[in-house]
Amino acid sequence: MQEQIQRIQPDQADVLRTLRLQGLEDAPEAFGRRYEEIAARPNRYWAEHVQHYATSQDSATFVLYRNSKPVGMAGAYLEGGRRDHAYICNMWVDPAFRRGGAGARLVDTANRWLAEQGVERINAWVVESNAPALSFYENLGFVREEHKRLMPGNPEVEEVLMVFDTALL
Ligand SMILES: CC(C)(COP(=O)(O)OP(=O)(O)OC[C@H]1O[C@@H](n2cnc3c(N)ncnc32)[C@H](O)[C@@H]1OP(=O)(O)O)[C@@H](O)C(=O)NCCC(=O)NCCS
Repeated sequence: MQEQIQRIQPDQADVLRTLRLQGLEDAPEAFGRRYEEIAARPNRYWAEHVQHYATSQDSATFVLYRNSKPVGMAGAYLEGGRRDHAYICNMWVDPAFRRGGAGARLVDTANRWLAEQGVERINAWVVESNAPALSFYENLGFVREEHKRLMPGNPEVEEVLMVFDTALL
């Protein structure tokens, strides 16, 4: 099976929308948004965001393909354009392709892109009860910090901060 990871292209609004909704449908507890909220967003929203994620220096989405079919994604961004506020987000792999290193390759791609933007420390908020994701990030060299927050959009859920030092790349 052929695998590829590529930055999303400006004409792939449908790919971005489909992957986001697949992730929310599959693992609603992992993300701070409701499926219905994201599904209701107009075409204009996706067209604008895909353009940004495809071309911006502050934000990028990477797509995982298996035999040319999109089956996973990872987001990377600098909050407020700040290199000292870098995040990985919207990390999702189709359950049919998990436990084979695809998620790790997506995060590695996103990490390297952030490092190219001059980032030294990469953050990921992870739901505290999401043991697979915590283990996943730890395996990749992310270290759990003491700092916690209530999930934006769902204040009943606690998230922990995982941090990666780009010197490890
Ligand atoms: C987290 C996720 C992206 C991992 O994708 P993946 O392709 O399976 O990742 P990899 O194959 O690179 O890494 C596998 C590692 O992740 C962890 N992991 C993944 N699934 C796991 C599970 N069900 N139970 C325990 N650990 C798990 C383990 O550390 C595993 O290593 P191992 O196979 O040596 O035990 C995927 O499980 C997913 O999309 N989950 C739903 C969405 C989600 O939780 N996203 C994270 C939001 S912060």
